[in-house]
Amino acid sequence: MCHTSIQYIYCDLYSVVHLYSVDCLSHSKLPEILHGKLLNFICPSLHCLLLKLSLFGKNVVVIMESGNDSSGLARTKSEQLVESAAAAAALKSQPSIDSIGKVDGGGTSLTRKSSWRMVAASPSRGGGGGSSRNTHIRKTSSSSVALSRASSSMDFSFSFTGFTLPADEISDSKPFSDEDIPEDIEAGNHKPKFQAEPTLPIYLKFTDVSYKVMIKGMTKNEEKDILKGITGAVNPGEVLALMGPSGSGKTSLLNLIGGRLSQPRISGSITYNDLPYSKCLKSKIGFVTQDDILSPHLTVKETLTYAARLKLPNTLTREQKEKRALDVIYELGLERCQDTMIGGSFIRGVSGGERKRVCVGNEIIINPSLLFLDEPTSGLDSTTALKIVQMLHDIAEAGKTVVTTIHQPSSRLFHKFDKLILLGKGSLLYFGKASEAMDYFQHIGCSPLIAMNPAEFLLDLANGNLNDVSVPSELEDKVQIGNAQAETRNGKPSPALVQEYLVESYENRVAEIEKKKLLVPIPLDEELKSKVHCPKRQWGTSWSEQYSILFSRGFKERRHDYFSWLRITQVLSTAIILGLLWWQSDANNMKGLQDQAGLLFFIAVFWGFFPVFTAIFTFPQERAMLTKERATDMYRLSAYFLARTTSDLPLDLVLPVLFLLVVYFMAGLRLSVGSFFLTILTVFLCIVAAQGLGLAIGATLMDLKRATTLASVTVMTFMLAGGFFVKRVPIFISWIRYLSFNYHTYKLLLKVQYEQVAPSINGIRIDSGLTEVVALIAMVFGYRLLAYLSLRRMKVGGA
Ligand SMILES: Nc1ncnc2c1ncn2[C@@H]1O[C@H](COP(=O)(O)OP(=O)(O)OP(=O)(O)O)[C@@H](O)[C@H]1O
Ligand SMILES: [Mg+2]
Repeated sequence: MCHTSIQYIYCDLYSVVHLYSVDCLSHSKLPEILHGKLLNFICPSLHCLLLKLSLFGKNVVVIMESGNDSSGLARTKSEQLVESAAAAAALKSQPSIDSIGKVDGGGTSLTRKSSWRMVAASPSRGGGGGSSRNTHIRKTSSSSVALSRASSSMDFSFSFTGFTLPADEISDSKPFSDEDIPEDIEAGNHKPKFQAEPTLPIYLKFTDVSYKVMIKGMTKNEEKDILKGITGAVNPGEVLALMGPSGSGKTSLLNLIGGRLSQPRISGSITYNDLPYSKCLKSKIGFVTQDDILSPHLTVKETLTYAARLKLPNTLTREQKEKRALDVIYELGLERCQDTMIGGSFIRGVSGGERKRVCVGNEIIINPSLLFLDEPTSGLDSTTALKIVQMLHDIAEAGKTVVTTIHQPSSRLFHKFDKLILLGKGSLLYFGKASEAMDYFQHIGCSPLIAMNPAEFLLDLANGNLNDVSVPSELEDKVQIGNAQAETRNGKPSPALVQEYLVESYENRVAEIEKKKLLVPIPLDEELKSKVHCPKRQWGTSWSEQYSILFSRGFKERRHDYFSWLRITQVLSTAIILGLLWWQSDANNMKGLQDQAGLLFFIAVFWGFFPVFTAIFTFPQERAMLTKERATDMYRLSAYFLARTTSDLPLDLVLPVLFLLVVYFMAGLRLSVGSFFLTILTVFLCIVAAQGLGLAIGATLMDLKRATTLASVTVMTFMLAGGFFVKRVPIFISWIRYLSFNYHTYKLLLKVQYEQVAPSINGIRIDSGLTEVVALIAMVFGYRLLAYLSLRRMKVGGA
């Protein structure tokens, strides 16, 4: 019986080392260690095994102690199988967070985590059958480093010199693969994979893409290069990762290839199935932006359900669309928070990671052919991040094309990417298979000197940081020549020099080859290819459906506003104060009538002032959401506009009724049913017209500060021109009163109250009131039309 146990493992591997096969102890051949290099092997005479490894220069000691029975070292695989099954059963009977052994139908499939536990817990572990298939420990070439490390637990001390693996062994090394592990609880693979119908395959190619922006300075404008000649491609079934330090241009590149930037300072070619961008691609592209743009007052489920109902085609029923939303919730592990509000800066809602997953869900729900994600894993723990990337992998496997930017992926995550683009200050440092990136940089003389996550290594390089990285001889020469600018304090080449070297190396060695590869036509027939071009935009649902969904969404989003006690208190308290001040005023004498006219003017001003200032926030506040949703052709602008402006009406009409109920009877205005309702109607008209003005100002300026300034000037002008303060207005400015909704409302209120009392009040002649009604109705529609046209003008990505 073998009593092998791991005494001490110090490994800073960028993946978990799995020492599965105990039978490797019986061989003089050393077990393979993932991306590491075995330096020595002390064997059975000591009844222990000490492996010393150099993993990118970092010393690693693995001590495997065997019992006295050395026969265990050479035990058969069948024994191991029995033992592994027993161990699996033991784990099954003792479920704990650490040792949950996920056993599949056959009882032999173990999660990566559980199998690792089993190595430590069971000395006789054979791992899922103990076959060679279980050897997840792989090797890779790395720089040879002498090492010396003592095992504290065994009191052994060794000193070795570098050990280099034979070239043939290096060449047959394979990147780490999860294929051997059928299930992985950490990655959430135990859940059913996201099922989606096949979509049009899209081959994305971009050649020599450059992007400049004009930076406005105090004295002169400067042109800044954001991207410099980036070339790359990604095919259906692949995940392309864009990596680079902060500010290197990842988001810019993603926006560019996602059709979200349409500025004149873009050069190079970007093609989708060998054709340029067309608007109809909008509905085939999913784009998860770096900033989370969601409605804070909707729950997770509501957010995804509305997205599904708006985005998915009419060929699916409402139930099917809602089911898709539930599938996505389940797939993204959002079940627990599906009824929680999203939240925002002022309202506590779901966690940051959950919000990010909702953003991802919002885009994958449409089953896009081409999926772009800007840092989908930022702020997530490594397990959830892995889960997201695993899902991207699954999506790609279903024939979609996936491009994602990523910050600091863990090593397990890194290996899930098919292709990689490494950017440094807007330049291309590497484009190619992710699995070949390390080899490429080693080839140009940059290899890690200590064990490190490849992503960390690549980011160090892109930052020009050569600490713990071997310095290419070419660069060393430059530093030694004594170029002061090229050297940093510690004798390493400066970041700028490293960057220059990496850019040159890529251009000289790889760029041309990659560009030539892009010239090869894509393997699709012409008909399929041309489907990325279509004459008409494709909407998920009909206009009326879009309107009704947006109306109900808007209603839900602002339901908290409707019952805002603050607003109700504000209106009611104003009404009570007015009622007390004008308590049972008498309109039968001239003085009392003039007093009452003052109250009517105040009502016209009050209900002209508030709607303007609430409406100006509408579009500037929703701008990000509107831009994002319109960039994917989620709905027509007209449907949104109408839904947005009508879904607010209920509240806007409830409050004035409350207000007038209090004021009208406290102030003792004309007691007749007709007059009361006509007063309410007049105030309604005033509110809706004033709202129109607010919407128009907000939509035109799209900037709250500027909008409030303009609105306050306009409202003040309209109030002054309202006919109460000044009677004899100079002729050249008197026209202004016709633009004032205060003036028209005031005139109508006077007519309703004193039609039968006097032909003119306070110098204002009481006539049929038709002109005023027409003027107010014209304002209701005119201002809204202006707002709509301003929104149309607003740029949305790719439009
Ligand atoms: N419109 C713009 N005007 C001015 N500078 C810009 C503009 N767009 C991008 N930049 C600059 O271009 C650089 C790259 O920006 P980008 O957002 O693409 O970086 P990134 O790699 O996504 O960074 P991060 O990882 O922090 O998100 C930054 O220095 C940024 O300031
Ligand atoms: Mg970014």
